[in-house]
Amino acid sequence: MNTTLSFTHRFVPASAEGEKPLLLLHGTGGDENDLLDLGRALAPHSALLSPRGRVLENGMPRFFKRLSEGVFDEADLLAQTKALAAFIAEAREAYALEAPLAVGFSNGANIAASLLMQAPNCLAGALLLRPMQPYRVRPQFRLNSTPILMLSGAFDPIVGKVNVDGLAEAFTEAGADLRYETLPTGHALSQMDLTIAKEWLSEHGRA
Ligand code: MLT
Repeated sequence: MNTTLSFTHRFVPASAEGEKPLLLLHGTGGDENDLLDLGRALAPHSALLSPRGRVLENGMPRFFKRLSEGVFDEADLLAQTKALAAFIAEAREAYALEAPLAVGFSNGANIAASLLMQAPNCLAGALLLRPMQPYRVRPQFRLNSTPILMLSGAFDPIVGKVNVDGLAEAFTEAGADLRYETLPTGHALSQMDLTIAKEWLSEHGRA
């Protein structure tokens, strides 16, 4: 655990050159340790930067406040998105990293989607696992062919299809290089996520 930068985080240096660093963003109730194994499985040699969300909901870390399930405190979301963008800049300088590719699950995918909309230059791309639209009114943003993989679950009780289709449409209209798949699964990750994510990263995760 490292507390020297503005977010408590873990950093694992790259073990070889050639892979983009991964920014690992956990789900509600997770922490900076949660996605390290997933990151390593996805990209065996890349640097891993894994912050802990700074908001607590009944003791569970998250990346921003919500009013109820699926209803976000958008003022807090915007403030936390800016804080996370500032942390990414700090960490890039501290660890001499190029722009990272975000790997976010659930609440972590939602703040990654918000980063793409509010601070489009701070990520080299994003792998969004079970994301939903972060804002009720879509902000204006442009993504110049930024690679994005969205994986949703057909039986996800938390994220509705209309909502996630809307997010895909927003990224496509903004100019992202989007791949979007709906898997026959729920909110939890499956082996299919890992297989597709690895395949996508082998194409888009090269430095
Ligand atoms: C959120 O609050 O970001 C979403 O509802 C996903 C989650 O349950 O964390």
